[in-house]
Amino acid sequence: MRAVLVSPPRAGARLGERERPERPEGWARVAVQEVGVCGTDRDIAAGKYGRAPDGRTDLVLGHENVGRVVEPAESGGSAGKGELVVASVRRGCGSCRMCLGDRSDLCETGRFRERGISGLDGYWTEEYVERPEYLHRIPPGLAGVAVLLEPLTVVEKALRVAREVQSGRLPAGTTPSPLRALVAGSGAVGMLAAGALAARGASVTVVDRHPGETPAAQRIERLGAVHATADALPPVGAGPGYHLILEATGALDLPLTLGRRLAPNGVLVLTGIPPADAPAAPAELGAWARDVVLGNRLVVGSVNAAGVDFEQGIRDLAELEARWAGWLGGLITARRDLAEAPEVLSGRVDGEIKTVLRVRR
Ligand code: BGC
Repeated sequence: MRAVLVSPPRAGARLGERERPERPEGWARVAVQEVGVCGTDRDIAAGKYGRAPDGRTDLVLGHENVGRVVEPAESGGSAGKGELVVASVRRGCGSCRMCLGDRSDLCETGRFRERGISGLDGYWTEEYVERPEYLHRIPPGLAGVAVLLEPLTVVEKALRVAREVQSGRLPAGTTPSPLRALVAGSGAVGMLAAGALAARGASVTVVDRHPGETPAAQRIERLGAVHATADALPPVGAGPGYHLILEATGALDLPLTLGRRLAPNGVLVLTGIPPADAPAAPAELGAWARDVVLGNRLVVGSVNAAGVDFEQGIRDLAELEARWAGWLGGLITARRDLAEAPEVLSGRVDGEIKTVLRVRR
């Protein structure tokens, strides 16, 4: 089988060959249709992240996926032959209470593995085998956008975490005020966050580094949301602040400056992953911490996603398709062949939101 291989921590990705995996009894065999490219894949290809499976030097890259079941698992209720599925990414450590409770996204030992990222082969290949409980069935009408589900689950979890930490604070009998939300970043995660928030009726602002009527700005405006650059926002303290800020860039200065725009009781969710060799904290950290403390503001990190986030993501894909037809499909800014992966991984191109690699149609 064709497969995109990396050898972390060595930089570089290549198109190679992998043996067709054996299918253990009770597992399903899935033919990969499309896979998505994200910043994590580029970091792994640059030698900054990732780990090969134990006993191997190379790893099949890729975690954003959609495929069709070619050999179903024997168990009743699992996806049947020909059904479209998206596989989740993380597999638990098998020993902590979170992983034992089916919440490997909250693993406490750090000894989890992630397909295509750390310790387990990923999906940038022709076929994979998997336990049925990790496969999420996709309604046929969502075939063209299902490759966006995995990045959307990262958003779904972040929004759920924000809701959970904020909702415990509301006095009995009060209802949450209409949500003013700020999303930092107009890459795939930022865009999907804007879409999911707009679909929930939030008033949404998305900030990125590019002023003017860019294609990203037009996509944001189609949702009824506002596009701005961070320095075009009203000065800190001038407006009422945001109930929710979702940081989706991994740029280090942004959480500091944006965090000061939180409304009292507002929550800043960090989803972007800054580089491990990030420089020491800047001087504004003092003012930032003071605002966070004096305003009872909440700062939380969120990574990966639980099964409930996949199910919510599938509902949101359908909702976004129904409300803004074609908007999701427009986030897929290029479709290339799997063989072009090494070139695609070499860097982001202008205007890219989500590049998808075709494996099989
Ligand atoms: C993936 C997550 C994963 C995280 C950390 C992200 O790109 O979407 O599933 O948990 O990287 O490795």
